[in-house]
Amino acid sequence: MHYVGYAGMAAAVSNAGGLGIITALTVASPPNTAEDLRKEIRKCRSLTDKPFGVNITLLPVGQPPDYESIIKVLIEEKIKIIETAGRDPSPVLVPLKKAGCVIIHKCVAIRHALKAARLGADMISMDGFDCGGHPGEEDVGNWVLLAKAGKVLKEKGIPFVASGGCATGKQLAAALALGAEGMNMGTAFMATTEAPILPGIKNALVEADERSTTHIFRTLNNTERVFKNDQALKVRAIEAEHPGDFSKIWPYVRGELYRQSFQETGDPDSSVWSCGQSIGLIDEVVSCKQLVRNIVDEAAGIIQGRLAALVVPRSNL
Ligand SMILES: Cc1cc2nc3c(=O)[nH]c(=O)nc-3n(C[C@H](O)[C@H](O)[C@H](O)COP(=O)(O)O)c2cc1C
Repeated sequence: MHYVGYAGMAAAVSNAGGLGIITALTVASPPNTAEDLRKEIRKCRSLTDKPFGVNITLLPVGQPPDYESIIKVLIEEKIKIIETAGRDPSPVLVPLKKAGCVIIHKCVAIRHALKAARLGADMISMDGFDCGGHPGEEDVGNWVLLAKAGKVLKEKGIPFVASGGCATGKQLAAALALGAEGMNMGTAFMATTEAPILPGIKNALVEADERSTTHIFRTLNNTERVFKNDQALKVRAIEAEHPGDFSKIWPYVRGELYRQSFQETGDPDSSVWSCGQSIGLIDEVVSCKQLVRNIVDEAAGIIQGRLAALVVPRSNL
């Protein structure tokens, strides 16, 4: 997660029993380099002895990072789990697979998942329209997307995790029932004590409800789900007037404003920043350990309790 997925966050998630992920582009985008990613990986190793992964996002950005050097560092540092996202992962997938990495490709459509698996992805992170970040242009919510993945991907032996809008144990039980191997969470991990963002943003996550997100960048075919504040509504209004003209919205969507909100001001209203509809499921800021524990316990309770009790043995009479 951009401006969130640093070593400390990834290590906290892994130490809590999840799979923490460092965001390569956050630490290695210009003026930083792939060597900064190497430092972050080593820092993460000093904070956890559990497995963690690295995310490589392939989206149009102003100053693209040096992907070739990033891949070289990942291979040299023997990172075993890579999450790719954004678009066709083949340019990065080929060298990483050759080096023996496990690739989890994040995508928003079944046909993209099938293509990624054909290209060599080992697992899919299926992101529904509910997700924070980039939900794509097809607007299929997770209730249908995951059910479809549970049929189509399962038939082909392609494992997947549910992603987007996830924050509770009941959802984990539902995701498992639909065929997922687990669930991926972004927004929910922002509301943890270890998340490297200021309390103002965490408070906004707690206070908001499920209607508190909106979309920007739709006219650029690069839709992003963000916190619904005046800045985001302004961007939407400009897009309506000047569809597809990035130069008109650039002053309001600069990554630097987003970084300042998260790291310097804690002001949730002075930038556009990603979050998913799961914002409506967040009631408090807890530690990563507590969050994971709450979810696992709730899922186990539902499966062993309510769901098991619904199954009535057939009579033999
Ligand atoms: C603040 C924020 C930043 C994100 N940055 C990235 C990113 O850089 N690359 C990426 O692949 N996904 C990114 N995502 C998406 C998440 O990795 C994850 O797929 C998504 O948050 C799941 O939906 P949820 O937020 O409803 O849990 C980001 C999400 C958030 C909330």
